[in-house]
Amino acid sequence: RVLILDFGSQVTQLIARRVRESGVYCEIHPFSIPFERIAEMAPRAIILSGGPASVTEATTPRAPQQIFEMGVPILGICYGQQAMCAQLGGEVEGSDQREFGRAMVDVTQDCTLFTDTWVKGAREQVWMSHGDRVIRLPPGFRAVATSEGAPFAVIADDARRFYGTMFHPEVVHTPHGAQLLRNFTHGVAGCRGDWTMAAFRAQAIERIRAQVGSERVICGLSGGVDSAVAALLLHEAIGPQLTCIFVDTGLLRAGEADEVVALFRGHYNIPLIHSDAGDLFLGKLAGVSDPEVKRKTIGGLFIDVFEAEAKKIGGADFLAQGTLYPDVIESVSFTGGPSVTIKSHHNVGGLPARMKMKLVEPLRELFKDEVRALGRELGMPDSMVGRHPFPGPGLAIRCPGEVTPEKLELLRKADRIYLDEIRQAGLYNEIWQAFAVILPVRTVGVMGDGRTYDYALALRAVTSTDGMTADSYPFTHEFLSRTATRIINEVRGINRVAYDVTSKPPGTIEWE
Ligand code: XMP
Repeated sequence: RVLILDFGSQVTQLIARRVRESGVYCEIHPFSIPFERIAEMAPRAIILSGGPASVTEATTPRAPQQIFEMGVPILGICYGQQAMCAQLGGEVEGSDQREFGRAMVDVTQDCTLFTDTWVKGAREQVWMSHGDRVIRLPPGFRAVATSEGAPFAVIADDARRFYGTMFHPEVVHTPHGAQLLRNFTHGVAGCRGDWTMAAFRAQAIERIRAQVGSERVICGLSGGVDSAVAALLLHEAIGPQLTCIFVDTGLLRAGEADEVVALFRGHYNIPLIHSDAGDLFLGKLAGVSDPEVKRKTIGGLFIDVFEAEAKKIGGADFLAQGTLYPDVIESVSFTGGPSVTIKSHHNVGGLPARMKMKLVEPLRELFKDEVRALGRELGMPDSMVGRHPFPGPGLAIRCPGEVTPEKLELLRKADRIYLDEIRQAGLYNEIWQAFAVILPVRTVGVMGDGRTYDYALALRAVTSTDGMTADSYPFTHEFLSRTATRIINEVRGINRVAYDVTSKPPGTIEWE
């Protein structure tokens, strides 16, 4: 395996993802892990992540010094490179020439890390995010690439198999970054690359069994892929100790509840409690228009329902959720780190502290496309695996302002037409997520000879690879006007349709 020591970067998980994509098993552990644990793991290679701290301050994180004596290859990325240099006798200084975002590096020498990708003399695009830089290399190192702000953009000590990059090879904005990482894990460290989703499935099952023991687990199903995959995995791991609960919040899309019930009871023959809680949710949401209050209210109600249902079956010790990595990173503010809470995703930050059940989140380190691959591995039908993501708080966060049954009804009708048009045009699988948002304003229109004063609706469709960044989908004008016409003709109560062309960032995918 490959060990990733985490110094708290926002993108550490992407390193793991890239390593997994190249067929190599890896684990992320905090930089402060005792060296004995590392020695027990006997990693084939170690990657030191980036991080928000500055090496130039004495109290900032360092890797256990003994890792440099283990004889295993080490790759330091950004902060990881600086920490490695500082720990091996080099020198790092704060630089007034900070580099953030896209930058170019010059490849000045040949290096194993560059096999089949970068060649000496080339200029290559990378993604930088640093304030400090290495100014003197430790003994044994040479610089193999440079950038304007950092003379040691890539460094190598071939004898000890230590490498460092000033930039982030794990993000897609470093176009050949995945190949650089692959060259490290395969070329330098000699990993075979035969690890697969089948292996993840087996490991996840072992981990669930170890965490849960003989205790009872309830799993909330939302209608989306994530919770369904989590439920299947748990079912395989612990069988009858698992109870699945589908909470009909009254905030679902047209036909959604029936599909989920049919899939679980019919296709998989997994028992399912169907809790009809629409009145409860809509009652508590009445008068609430602040997005965070909505999210927290919904998170709290989910727990109330889960706890009430758990009581009926004699109690449950664990609550299982299909939380994915992007949900985690966008909800958590790391202490000392630059990452702030954007939204309280209900299956992470929206959970009330009073919840007594412990959490099982077997997909916590995966990205959406990995969850889909796991779903396929578990025999899930394509129609389910390929579904667009649907957020736990459901249509509530697609109704800016107060959520009312009237608005929800209009939204369901419009959303169905929109998705129907997308499917008919053969675009569903090209799009990461498409949905309608009903706006809290009425606008004036004219239909036939009469004046209308009805709701405005926004359509949103984005492309994305992991939900962390996204671009608006470039529909043709013809598609948009056809869809708008259908919605306005068929949904009485909506008289205007707009298309949202904002990317993420600066927007988010959902409107709330
Ligand atoms: P944003 O709006 O933050 O969304 O750009 C990123 C992705 O996450 C989904 N999303 C959620 N999923 N619970 C979920 O399970 C939530 O509270 C939640 N909020 C947003 C969103 O639909 C998109 O796919």
